[in-house]
Amino acid sequence: MTRRTPRPAARDLERYAGLFASRTSVMKSSAMRDLMALTERPDVISLAGGMPDTSTFPAESFASIMVKVAVDNCAAALQYGPTEGLGIAKDVIAQVMEAEGTLVDPDDVLVTTGGQQVIDLVCRTLVDPGDVVVAEAPTYPGAVPCFSVYQADVVQVAMDEDGMRIDELEETLDRLEREGRRPKFIYTIPNFQNPAGVTMSLPRRQRLVEVAKERELLVLEDNPYGLLRYEGEPLPTLYSLDGGEFVIYLGTFSKILSAGIRLGWAVAPNPVLQKMNLGKQAADLCSSSLTQHFVSAYFGEGRWEPYLQSLRELYRRRRDTMLDALAEHFPPEATWTRPQGGLFIWATLPDYLDTTDLLARALTRNVAFVPGRGAFLDGRGAASMRLNFSGVTEDEIREGARRIGEVIAEQVELFGTLTGHRKPEPAAAEPGTVDPELADVLHLPRPGEREARRSDGAR
Ligand SMILES: Cc1ncc(COP(=O)(O)O)c(C=O)c1O
Repeated sequence: MTRRTPRPAARDLERYAGLFASRTSVMKSSAMRDLMALTERPDVISLAGGMPDTSTFPAESFASIMVKVAVDNCAAALQYGPTEGLGIAKDVIAQVMEAEGTLVDPDDVLVTTGGQQVIDLVCRTLVDPGDVVVAEAPTYPGAVPCFSVYQADVVQVAMDEDGMRIDELEETLDRLEREGRRPKFIYTIPNFQNPAGVTMSLPRRQRLVEVAKERELLVLEDNPYGLLRYEGEPLPTLYSLDGGEFVIYLGTFSKILSAGIRLGWAVAPNPVLQKMNLGKQAADLCSSSLTQHFVSAYFGEGRWEPYLQSLRELYRRRRDTMLDALAEHFPPEATWTRPQGGLFIWATLPDYLDTTDLLARALTRNVAFVPGRGAFLDGRGAASMRLNFSGVTEDEIREGARRIGEVIAEQVELFGTLTGHRKPEPAAAEPGTVDPELADVLHLPRPGEREARRSDGAR
């Protein structure tokens, strides 16, 4: 038996440091990924993940689909496939997009290893070190490491309850133009944004695609949650409004079927798609043929829409439970969003609280969330947190919110003791509605201002 040499420890870093590429010095870990390890501990109630509840997928269905794949396509499912993806998977993707009112030609589709790979391939194709990427504030925490790897200079544009502020976007683009800097793309999650939970209004969608056309800028529309709407009317995708000229679309099976199959897709203007295809060849040759066959067989059964409907009903209940639990257990100074779909609520606490510190305390009580800083590249977001309601039971949601509420109350008390200040007066607004002074980073209007804003249209 050979003796194993001891594994190099972190303190041996300097032995390898001279070999690292300079980009590794700015690589950032995703707040979310670090927390994934915790979600594996059974004693932790994790409101941190972004997990679909895969326990709802019927095991018999899974077994019969796998048998079908084995009987009908065993050799092909075990084989490499084309980089752009199998035709059978692209047909399913066209069907899923049609369910959101978006028509695509399967030839314009690139099948990817999750939606995450689309973000990577878009950056790989477009971003040189120092290039500007415009994103929302807050943005998807999982995109942060990707932007960092490619050394993008990320400029974040404020959001409110109608999604990205297009007036602020235009001001930002004007400023960048004056500085001679043309952003490589504008990154947005228009539906039930991760992490903020808000949805971009129709006038803003229309204005965004106009802005992209007028300025000839690319938009990356990241849409994992569009089909997980629990109330309100569906809105058209940016891709359908734009007609595929300046919008790159990102889709995924992760939240409507399974995150474990690691299948997503991109639809993009052909020259961009070709470059992304080359980038993908270098990354992984092709996505899993096995799971592409799985997806094709599953959609062939025609039961995907009822399953999706069952997910919507389940998550709607969990969202409502979380909203009730926050109203019960969070202090009156806290504010939070009320998502019409998706998986997340964004809560903002008084600005003297730091949710990164709060998380350390929360973990001693076996509850986790994503601290807001993970959704910013410039250190903002300290008083906010992202809460997930899809991957936990209603009891866990109630208990998790109760424990976080206790930790917040302790911190508020401690603040009062340390500073000698009285606990700040509760905000006049009812819990869950909004006081912009307290809404650290997500600028939501006071209740009275809402109507005025609506008539203002696209801002
Ligand atoms: C906004 C957004 N984009 C992309 C992804 C990546 O998803 P996946 O790689 O599982 O398809 C996620 C996952 O949570 C997400 O929320």
